[in-house]
Amino acid sequence: MNSKEILTYFSKWIESETGIIYQEHNLYQLQDRLDQLVRHFKLESPIDLWKKVEAGGGSEFRTKLIDISTNNETSFFRDAKFFECLERTVLPGLVKDCGGLANIKIWSVASSSGQEPYSLAMLLVELGKKINQLPPKIMATDISEGILAKATAGIYSEIEMGRGLSEERRKNYFKPDNSNTWLLNADMRALVNLKKLNLISQNSLPGPFDLILCRNVLIYQKVEAKVQIINRLSGCLRPEGIFLMGSGESMIGLSNEFRQVLTDGVAIYSRKETEKKSA
Ligand SMILES: C[S@@+](CC[C@H](N)C(=O)[O-])C[C@H]1O[C@@H](n2cnc3c(N)ncnc32)[C@H](O)[C@@H]1O
Repeated sequence: MNSKEILTYFSKWIESETGIIYQEHNLYQLQDRLDQLVRHFKLESPIDLWKKVEAGGGSEFRTKLIDISTNNETSFFRDAKFFECLERTVLPGLVKDCGGLANIKIWSVASSSGQEPYSLAMLLVELGKKINQLPPKIMATDISEGILAKATAGIYSEIEMGRGLSEERRKNYFKPDNSNTWLLNADMRALVNLKKLNLISQNSLPGPFDLILCRNVLIYQKVEAKVQIINRLSGCLRPEGIFLMGSGESMIGLSNEFRQVLTDGVAIYSRKETEKKSA
């Protein structure tokens, strides 16, 4: 096998396990990541990696391969307009619909290192204080064990803290851990229930939820996988439940099961009334 064939082999393996596609122009990224793995496992070359996969691979090996194949870019309050819309419109609407803040069922389906569900937890706590109600817990999942471990630890570097977090929230929710890192307070960590879940292959998905955040994960998937994932997630939302995507993403051409509602310039999708069985 030459190096081009090895790359093609691994891009296909990753696509079938995760739905993530590496296009021709970013195969160099995959090459870099495979090289990291070769070093990690103290192997000689990507050919040894290929031999390991062909031999069935150990679970640690498969887990690491999935870890390196994912793109975990995220930040606190990523896309300020989106979180303002959640705060001003979506959450107050759900408090009414669900008969109280604590009753809202929320799922962040690709939570990466935790900034998305923890930002949402901060909004829920702040809203709870205003209306004198307890916040609900958030379910947060991701396919990558490595990134879930980071989310669970709740430890962030100065650079991560500088991306999207106000001074006030830094003071309210974090303590300095050592000279360069910050630890999210335990009560905030306890509001987010983190679990491993593969949106493509997990047999049965949880639900029904009132609000699903599916942001910046489908952009790495091929169209068939996007359709499959949205269809599965639609089955996890109650009728009229809210589905939110990343700012550059859209449901166009992917599903007819949602109505688009535009609020404050943010595209919000609401599941059409029709009953649907859980995925
Ligand atoms: C770019 S991050 C987005 C994080 C966050 N939602 C945001 O918008 O900031 C994409 C995440 O999707 C996860 N992911 C990719 N494929 C997945 C799959 N098949 N099932 C579950 N999670 C997946 C990756 O591990 C990664 O952490």
